[in-house]
Amino acid sequence: MRRKLAAGNWKMNGCKADLAQIKALCAAHETATVDLLICPPTTLIGAAAEICADHALQIGGQDCHAQASGAHTGDISAQMLADVGARAVIVGHSERRSDHAETSDDVRAKASAAHDAGLQAIVCIGEHLAEREADRTLNVIGAQLADSVPGDASAENTVIAYEPCWAIGTGLTATPDQISEVHDFIRDRLVGRFGPEIGQAIRLLYGGSVKPGNASQIFAVQNVDGALVGGASLTSRDFSPIISALEGAVEVS
Ligand code: 13P
Repeated sequence: MRRKLAAGNWKMNGCKADLAQIKALCAAHETATVDLLICPPTTLIGAAAEICADHALQIGGQDCHAQASGAHTGDISAQMLADVGARAVIVGHSERRSDHAETSDDVRAKASAAHDAGLQAIVCIGEHLAEREADRTLNVIGAQLADSVPGDASAENTVIAYEPCWAIGTGLTATPDQISEVHDFIRDRLVGRFGPEIGQAIRLLYGGSVKPGNASQIFAVQNVDGALVGGASLTSRDFSPIISALEGAVEVS
């Protein structure tokens, strides 16, 4: 039985005043029955982790460098994130892949660095609209999955997030059938590569315009173990009902 995970990616949003949202989430979900993770901007990780010190809500980073330290001005290592209280880090988000030309090889190196630092790597994969329209979705997902996930992946150190690029920040959400097809495919590939025990245990998140109004429908899809939420994770008002929907989720298909 995989434990569900509601994860929020604040992207480049949030100043000190927004730590109030994390306090509110802690207060509203004292006894969460799913895992909770917020990935605020790096500037807030230390303070957010202190707020959550006695709470199940965990704090993560949004990216890390593949090296533990060195002459890389402006970059942050996984070790540094762990040092200020992060427990996880997103790697390979499509905005990193497009804005910073990150390849799946880069992403795998970052995920390995996360593992070395004791962080859970949330490895993101997803197709562009043109790739979906050309019927290449599963080819793209298969290649990204193979190249982005390190060989030492386990349920403890790795989560996969399927985020179709065309659904991110657009208000467009993949249909349950589209999500189901890709998540089943990812599950099969993980089982094929890592064997049934690890392959069945690694959690698969869906991301892309998850909102309070569509969360239940998405969480009912088999092999959806939670969500990676952008815009709707910025406030406790929006994220809290998504968490509640995940707690009440019953897979039907
Ligand atoms: P939105 O929920 O804002 O579409 O963002 C999804 C995402 O990219 C999470 O990583």
